[in-house]
Amino acid sequence: MKKQVKKVKLKSPVIVFLVIIALVSTSVFLFMQKDKPTTKEETKYPMEIEEKLKTLNHPEKAFDYFKFDFLERYLSYQELNPNLSIEDIITRVNIGLDNKYYTNTSVSPYLNTNYLLVNKYISLGENYVPDHLVDIDKDCSVNYKTVQLVSEAKDAFVNLCHKAKEDGFTIRAMSSYRSYDYQKKLYQNYVDSDGVEEADTYSARPGFSEHQTGLTVDVDNAKLSYTDFDKTNEFKWMMENAHRFGFILRYPKDKEDITGYSYESWHYRYVGVDIATYIYEHNITLDEYYVRFIENKMGKGN
Ligand code: DAL
Ligand code: ZN
Repeated sequence: MKKQVKKVKLKSPVIVFLVIIALVSTSVFLFMQKDKPTTKEETKYPMEIEEKLKTLNHPEKAFDYFKFDFLERYLSYQELNPNLSIEDIITRVNIGLDNKYYTNTSVSPYLNTNYLLVNKYISLGENYVPDHLVDIDKDCSVNYKTVQLVSEAKDAFVNLCHKAKEDGFTIRAMSSYRSYDYQKKLYQNYVDSDGVEEADTYSARPGFSEHQTGLTVDVDNAKLSYTDFDKTNEFKWMMENAHRFGFILRYPKDKEDITGYSYESWHYRYVGVDIATYIYEHNITLDEYYVRFIENKMGKGN
């Protein structure tokens, strides 16, 4: 009798333990299943759309800047550019590059901010004059004309110019803010001498020039022509340091198919240190950065 009681006593804790384990496991399993969609719920698009999304490796899950409205455009662009990554296809279509330059254009919603993107699809409008334009200090600009930038960009440029001077380099602003009317004359002169097609590769049409933002500056080293800026040590210095002051090389070499402009080693755009650093570190253009991180995400202030 004594022996039997002992046996029951030994088994009970084991059984209780196993029951607890079973209950806990069941609860955990049920909890984990709670929010998991059923297979039926996962297929939330019509079969035809699902197939198209599959062709693009389900970009709606990978890229928050994927636009359902552009699905057909992504597919057509992929057919024309089978070697591009899905990320590049979505980025480029969002920029508008599947459309001809200067078609489907709109006015920027980010006027008077550092998020302002101007390219062959986004304009500033005829009447846009940025707020807070100020003269660039004479020791950092050509001395025969007034060269202006938006005050925040001006301060950043003067800091850059002074630091460059400390390091033994001369970097001066030769063209910065340009009004709509000034750009209109400039562009027309280029068209008159080179024709529209050629002029469009290096000059912006009025209303579409980044110079009208007051955030852009063309520089030289006071020795060589600005068009030879990439042959100078000042250019090397800019490549290593411009982003630290919030500037990016806006029209880089080998990015012509994204920016729509020939390489311009002298043309720098102020975007602020954080954006400039990201663009520098990831070797992308402002156009790409804009559709990935700014468009539809940022407020209008900065
Ligand atoms: N050269 C640049 C693209 C401009 O005209 O704004
Ligand atoms: Zn320029």
